Amino acid sequence: MYSIVEHEVLAPRVHRLRVQAPVVAEKAKPGQFVILIIDEKGERVPFTISDWDSEAGTVDFVFIEVGKTTQQLATMQPGDQLLSFIGPLGRPAEVGQFGHVVSVLSGYGIAAMVPILKALKDNGNTLTTIVQAPDQDRLFGQKPLEELSDTLILALGTQGDGMMESTTVAMRKLLNQHPKRRIDRVIAMCSLCLMRVLSEMTRPYAIKTMVHLTPVMVDGTGMCGACRLSVGRTNRFACVHGPEFDGHEVDGWEVLMARRCTYADESILQQGFQCR
Ligand code: FES
Repeated sequence: MYSIVEHEVLAPRVHRLRVQAPVVAEKAKPGQFVILIIDEKGERVPFTISDWDSEAGTVDFVFIEVGKTTQQLATMQPGDQLLSFIGPLGRPAEVGQFGHVVSVLSGYGIAAMVPILKALKDNGNTLTTIVQAPDQDRLFGQKPLEELSDTLILALGTQGDGMMESTTVAMRKLLNQHPKRRIDRVIAMCSLCLMRVLSEMTRPYAIKTMVHLTPVMVDGTGMCGACRLSVGRTNRFACVHGPEFDGHEVDGWEVLMARRCTYADESILQQGFQCR
């Protein structure tokens, strides 16, 4: 069993849990994820690791209430226990020396990208970070992003298309300055729809664009095929070949979006949170 040691509400329906999981904490790398099961009746659900402390043996992840398991997790408190907490899974994100890296974040990605940004900063990259949120009340996790980013852009907007537009306008401005203010890489951890749009925006500039894809997963070890996707016209499994992929190589965006939304709760979507 894995004890919850902290539960913080970051914004309406957005939570951070800290779990005692020493083996995961010892091996975690930026961009990796865990799969947890709450109890014997629970489903297996992946969460990207947002922080860890190898000395304390703890692992953090941030989630938005979008379905049965996340709603159940939102009720759990320090001292409660999880049946299973498997990880770290997936390949670590690429965090080399690229130059100027533009990151686009929304939802859980606002927290989950922090370890990647830390590693990129340590490797001497210049960081521009675009954070998307529906409004100031639902914006969270600004402080570490301010500390790590050379430039932080807040893309606040109304729900749905308006919110995405505020982000794409910010990206367009940056692309218009390229190559004078050169962009060497884009990394996106946001809605599937926005990651797809960003990938198309950067394609004409040949700017490498990495997207973080977390389709429905079951075993997390490449055996069940639940997380398959097509990248470079080849079947890939997000759990073992990803979750970070070259956005210009992803072929099956529509399928990914349809599968993700199958499990979303309509009432949550109406409040401005996106399943994709
Ligand atoms: Fe089963 Fe990836 S979750 S193959």
